[in-house]
Amino acid sequence: MNLPVKYRPKNFEEITNQRHVVITLQNALKYQKISNAYLFAGPRGVGKTTTARIFAKGLNCEKGITSHPCGECGICREIDDGRSVDVLEIDGASNRGIDQIRELRENVRFTPVRARYKVIIIDEVHMLTTEAFNALLKTLEEPPPRVVFILATTEPRKVPDTVKSRTQRFDFRPLSSLDIKKRIKEIAEKEDIRVESEEIFDIIAEAADGSLRDGIALLEQAYIFSGDVITVTHLKELVGLIGKEVYLKFFEYFKKGDKKAVVELLDELVMQGYSLEDFLRGFTEALDRLLRVKLGIEENGYESIAGRFTVYEIMLMLKIAKDMEESLKYSKNPRVFFDFHLLRLTSLMSEIDLNQVLARGNIYITSGANNMNFNNNHYRNNNQEMEDSLKKKIIEKLGLKEVNNGSL
Ligand SMILES: Nc1ncnc2c1ncn2[C@@H]1O[C@H](COP(=O)(O)OP(=O)(O)OP(=O)(O)O)[C@@H](O)[C@H]1O
Ligand SMILES: [Mg+2]
Ligand SMILES: [Zn+2]
Repeated sequence: MNLPVKYRPKNFEEITNQRHVVITLQNALKYQKISNAYLFAGPRGVGKTTTARIFAKGLNCEKGITSHPCGECGICREIDDGRSVDVLEIDGASNRGIDQIRELRENVRFTPVRARYKVIIIDEVHMLTTEAFNALLKTLEEPPPRVVFILATTEPRKVPDTVKSRTQRFDFRPLSSLDIKKRIKEIAEKEDIRVESEEIFDIIAEAADGSLRDGIALLEQAYIFSGDVITVTHLKELVGLIGKEVYLKFFEYFKKGDKKAVVELLDELVMQGYSLEDFLRGFTEALDRLLRVKLGIEENGYESIAGRFTVYEIMLMLKIAKDMEESLKYSKNPRVFFDFHLLRLTSLMSEIDLNQVLARGNIYITSGANNMNFNNNHYRNNNQEMEDSLKKKIIEKLGLKEVNNGSL
């Protein structure tokens, strides 16, 4: 299917979200003020190569230099199909050496075969070797007539200043998740791709992280993976997203102080093939959602648990999430530290902080839960279930045996 290619824009109007670039290039064509070299900088999958091709059509369309290439003439079609002898696309990553650039310099000495301009698009130009850059620089310093270079890169910082200064630079922007959502929704409709709910588009747009190509590719992948209808569960699995229900469970266990359940739940996720990064990404996101509910900014499904956490506690959890991030970066065995951080967090969040209770030292337990003697209102009003579980824990912790009448 290859949807990203199928839905590659064929004219300037179809390019999403790069208005500043598009208008300037269209004006250049309209007033025939063509530079010898352009630098298209920007993150992956935001339209650099696409724009370069459309610009090449604008320069070469049989109807004349135009900001609205016809898309129908022989030359426009050749460029669209990538088989024009005058529009060359070179991958800088695999042609990074001096020899390839020398060859290119030879090539550009000849006038275009059929078209008005030779257009040389070098993708990932930052990958060229120093010698190759020097050779390229020579060409840019004495530009052959009727040749336009378009240097595309995701890492403009790695392009030597000498080269940059010979080019007209355009910065492509990452696309907003809203723009990505709009486009993939449109494509899904055209392709008759059925989705379980609107949320599918939100998840894809979020996961695409600014790259429309990644978004479209993910839509296609999810479609193939799901078979018929794309479901939220399938999609989340595909992008390594852990579901909200899992984090709701974590929050519940934190409050219960159930350290064993917390560690086991993380075990389970790892066994299902999720990475610690996946967990942490989702956890941070869940905390952000929780915070937003607390602050009354949005409703997002975390309402059920939000009442049990204070804003301060959520901030504390975010701080611990940050510690987990550090462990990921700096520890040889981050899993151990994830357990540690989660346990620490559980202690801090727990409504029944056992250690605190034990530290008071004046506990006696009989079968009637009401007889538990804690100096804390917090515990006094808790329900039977919680008291029972607390009792069990204290018994465990102290290594005591419960005798039949419930006293210790
Ligand atoms: N701004 C955009 N408007 C419309 N479609 C886009 C845009 N950006 C990307 N796409 C879609 O993504 C595909 C890939 O885009 P393109 O090859 O132009 O990205 P790129 O910026 O050159 O990425 P890379 O840096 O990875 O080479 C296109 O075929 C198109 O389907
Ligand atoms: Mg590209
Ligand atoms: Zn044309």
